[in-house]
Amino acid sequence: MSKIDTRWIREDEPLLDAALALRAGQLVAFPTETVYGLGADALNEDAVRAIYTAKGRPSDNPLIVHVYPGFDLERVVRQVPVKAQKLMDAFWPGPLTLIMPRRENVPYATTGGLETVGVRMPSHPKAMELLRLADVPVAAPSANRSGRPSPTTAAHVWEDMQGRIYGIVDGGPCTVGLESTIIDMTGDVPMLLRPGGITLEMLRSVIGEVAVEPSVAKGLAISKEEHPRAPGMKYRHYAPKGSLVLLRGSDASKTRYLKAHLPEVQGKAGVLASSEWIRQMQQVLDVSELHIEDLGSRTQPDTMARRLFGALRSFDENGCTDIFGEALQEDGLFMAMMNRMRRAAAGVILPVDPVE
Ligand code: TXA
Ligand code: MG
Repeated sequence: MSKIDTRWIREDEPLLDAALALRAGQLVAFPTETVYGLGADALNEDAVRAIYTAKGRPSDNPLIVHVYPGFDLERVVRQVPVKAQKLMDAFWPGPLTLIMPRRENVPYATTGGLETVGVRMPSHPKAMELLRLADVPVAAPSANRSGRPSPTTAAHVWEDMQGRIYGIVDGGPCTVGLESTIIDMTGDVPMLLRPGGITLEMLRSVIGEVAVEPSVAKGLAISKEEHPRAPGMKYRHYAPKGSLVLLRGSDASKTRYLKAHLPEVQGKAGVLASSEWIRQMQQVLDVSELHIEDLGSRTQPDTMARRLFGALRSFDENGCTDIFGEALQEDGLFMAMMNRMRRAAAGVILPVDPVE
């Protein structure tokens, strides 16, 4: 791959040039409320293939198609199910992707060979403006190199994509910080494939019954032969370079475990935790040798979600070899956070409370 002189498009710069580049089949990274996306014209097969090359990811993974308010969905979807329309009315623009039957003009390169297509309308003003100016449906996976945490700032994208794509639109830090919720609307009962900013509880409040893809809760690797139904099942995701274990239990129990196991750490230890656990830890432990990533208070799940991916990247920047994370309860937005954290930890969760 020859190196490209990647343009950084500042927050105060107009977007027309980036929009024209998209129309011309170039790759442009742009901000959304969830994470930064790596965009290409979804109907242009060559442009879509270039995404895979830039990301360094296998090309059988389906991509999400991004549209703007007022976009005629019939340009990409054969038929919009009734419940899908209800969800769009409730949550678009916003962090929700709907899987619907594909229109024939959407290439298999975009859908990963499937007869369905995932569509989402982001709410970030820069994303909406760029999509409207380009006036093409834009396929965009998260703008990270394969295996890295999704980017939540333009600087993260620069780290991963500089020299590989036409441009990066800076739109500040992402407000949700986790990738969109994905729901499959093609079966009798809608099925949650990936938890995100629109929670299971919110989906059920609008359309009633929603099934949950079993891997959503397990988050364990599956064999290469199996079809990648739910995102991130097939390849290792989000993982920092150091090893990560998640500790489940009271703050006191987690600290006791840490105290017992820190002496075994050969390199640098990191901690991924809520403010509550960190406060408790500081009372019992000398934390001066630890690299601590404070996600914020457990009473503020939004803040914790927003900080997660940046925190995972920081462990690499600080050379952490052994990371101890806090397992969260699995409801609301924490369900989405734990889904990502479990993958980053390759499924390793240790119960640390003493058994009765
Ligand atoms: O928040 C987001 O969704 C971000 C921003 C950029 O919009 N995008 C994103 O894309 O997370 P990506 O490629 O990292 O994840 C897309 C996932 C794929 O892993 C795929 O499994 C699932 O969406 N997906 C897309 N189309 C699908 C389809 N037709 N059927 C099943 N899963 C699909
Ligand atoms: Mg991704």
